[in-house]
Order: sequence, then structure tokens, then C-alpha cells
Amino acid sequence: MADAERLPFAGETFNAVAALWMLYHVAEPLTVLRQAAMVLRPGGTFVACAPSRYNDPEFEAVLPEWGYPSTFDAEDAAELIGRVFDVVDVERWDAPLMSLRDAVAVEQFLRGRGLSPQAAAEAATGFERPVTVTKRGAVVWGRVR
Ligand SMILES: C[S@@+](CC[C@H](N)C(=O)[O-])C[C@H]1O[C@@H](n2cnc3c(N)ncnc32)[C@H](O)[C@@H]1O
Repeated sequence: MADAERLPFAGETFNAVAALWMLYHVAEPLTVLRQAAMVLRPGGTFVACAPSRYNDPEFEAVLPEWGYPSTFDAEDAAELIGRVFDVVDVERWDAPLMSLRDAVAVEQFLRGRGLSPQAAAEAATGFERPVTVTKRGAVVWGRVR
């Protein structure tokens, strides 16, 4: 275990660094991107992925954060990574990839999206099941300059 904002590795140690579903957990993702660049060898690969701020649009009405930027989301990912790396590929998805078959599944999903147990249980009753959920996000590949 190590803090991605202060990696305990010498410079130019790795050929690849992955930051999957994690950069939106940090307040300053650029700090992590610069740390990743530091530990990568010349020509090394960096990859990160993140959900879109417009992810799960079926739940827009009950997700308070829906539509607002996080510190690192699919809308900003390539621009942020491009400040540190050469961006070599961006793959986006926007498709109905999940089905929630009953109220329990909807409730658990909403708890996973940050609603309190009570708010999730109340909100879950307002959706006709099954709910087909549209997943939106992006994976961005970079290379050390
Ligand atoms: C949603 S999980 C994703 C885990 C894994 N990458 C995956 O794709 O399954 C977010 C991860 O980010 C890690 N994380 C958050 N802030 C971090 C930091 N400053 N340094 C290292 N890891 C961090 C958490 O420990 C957690 O494992």
C-alpha cells in the first residue's frame, strides 16, 4: 500500500502505471499524474479510467451530484492527462450495460452511489423495474513524453 500522491519508488522504475477508477478520489489528480510520470520509464504507458459526470442518467433525479464535475471524470480526463502525458487513445462508452431487476437491486445500487440507506430505500420505490442503466465513462491512455 502506498499513497499515489507520494509514491515510495525511485524515478523511472516502471514500464506502466494504471489508475483505474481512483483519480476522482483525490483532490488534486494532477499530483498523482505527475507522480506516475516520475516513476515511469521513458516511453512508459499510463492508463486511467473514470465515469462520466452524466453516468447512470436514469437516476438523474435522485443523485444530487449528477451532472456536476468530479475532480477527475470522463469529460476532463483526457485534458488533465494531456497536461502530463502525450494522450495516445481515448475510448468512451455510453451504453445500456446494467439491469437492476427489483427494488432491492435498485436500493443497493443507489447506496453504492452515495445515498443514505433511507434515501435509497425511498427512491427505489419510484422506479419501474427492471431498470436498465446507461453506463458512461472513458479510459484514457497516455505515454511519457
Ligand atoms: C473504486 S476503487 C478502484 C479499485 C481498483 N483500481 C479497481 O479498478 O477495481 C478506488 C481505489 O482508489 C484507492 N485510492 C484512493 N485514493 C488513493 C490514494 N491517494 N493513493 C492510493 N490509492 C488510493 C482506494 O484505496 C481504492 O482501492
